[in-house]
Amino acid sequence: MTSIFDPLRVGALDLPNRIIMAPMTRSRADANGVPLDIVADYYAQRADCGLILSEAIYVSDMAKGYVRTPGLANAAQVAGWKRVTDAVHAKGGRMFAQLFHTGRVAMPDFLPGGAQPVAPSAIAINGKNWTDSGQKPHVVPRALETDEIAGIAGEFAQASLRAIEAGFDGVEIHAASGYLIHQFLDASMNTRTDIYGGSVENRARFLLLVVDRVIEAIGRERVGLKVSPRIKFNDVQDLDAEEIYPHVARELSARGIAYLHGAKQGGYEVHAHLRPLFKGLYFAGAGFERASGDALLESGGGDAIVYGKPYIANPDLVNRMRSGLALAEPDGSTIYGGGAKGYVDYPAAD
Ligand SMILES: Cc1cc2nc3c(=O)[nH]c(=O)nc-3n(C[C@H](O)[C@H](O)[C@H](O)COP(=O)(O)O)c2cc1C
Repeated sequence: MTSIFDPLRVGALDLPNRIIMAPMTRSRADANGVPLDIVADYYAQRADCGLILSEAIYVSDMAKGYVRTPGLANAAQVAGWKRVTDAVHAKGGRMFAQLFHTGRVAMPDFLPGGAQPVAPSAIAINGKNWTDSGQKPHVVPRALETDEIAGIAGEFAQASLRAIEAGFDGVEIHAASGYLIHQFLDASMNTRTDIYGGSVENRARFLLLVVDRVIEAIGRERVGLKVSPRIKFNDVQDLDAEEIYPHVARELSARGIAYLHGAKQGGYEVHAHLRPLFKGLYFAGAGFERASGDALLESGGGDAIVYGKPYIANPDLVNRMRSGLALAEPDGSTIYGGGAKGYVDYPAAD
């Protein structure tokens, strides 16, 4: 019987259990993208899980997509994250940094010099994003020039080196949720006619370039990657998910990264389809409870289970699940932004 309480080796790390804390944006950074002091307390409270995946962290100033979110783009941000990883390690935990570029999700309001966001193609998201002066419609992004794209992959590599300097045990490349890497994968928002658009191979090229550069920088055993095919977010469509995601999984498998993280947040059976194609570890996420997590591991459908929303109000999720205790419900009004309230003040059951 495999259970979520069994240990697991991920790269050079020994996880005491297979309960992974999902990456969750909580918007508690200062105006310079440095995590607030309470961020260290928040993650340290959850250090007994197998592995913490940080909230998404922007790789460069042009990659920032939301107000009050943190970066790994400069030395001050590295120092801020070092306080967090030190606190997690002092509690015996392990933590990967989730790295992203938000592409067309960004707003000129928080880009350098009010710059226009960049994306594979000049197609805006139909919707709004928060700025310091309220909600505003998304803008039409500037389509990246072909010769700019390798440089953005380089930004992921630089940020992954900073992540290691900041004490993270590895990085998770965020290829999900309709951010820049996902924008290249999805033909509804990538209408390019160069080597980064058109065929499945071409649309996956940027993702694989990022992976190759990050592997060169920090080594394959410290690299994971998240996908969320057909997620209902940021206008994602992924009409040919059945073709492109298996291609991505096979190519990642050949590169030997530590794990593939699939979140089933749309009408695509990501665990069933990708798990058999990827020979490394498979982390299954979205909608799991204790019993469904155990059942998936027992069936061989994954190697670890990623828990998101249950972690918001249950810092002691591991103990609660082990003891069969009821889970607390989060306060919806304090999820994004603010201070300690609804962040580090959820009590443990005992
Ligand atoms: C408040 C909140 C913030 C999130 N932020 C991120 C993020 O920064 N990066 C990411 O990959 N997913 C993010 N997600 C998605 C989660 O990682 C996870 O895939 C999703 O919540 C489904 O898992 P669950 O049903 O266990 O919550 C977020 C989810 C929530 C609820």
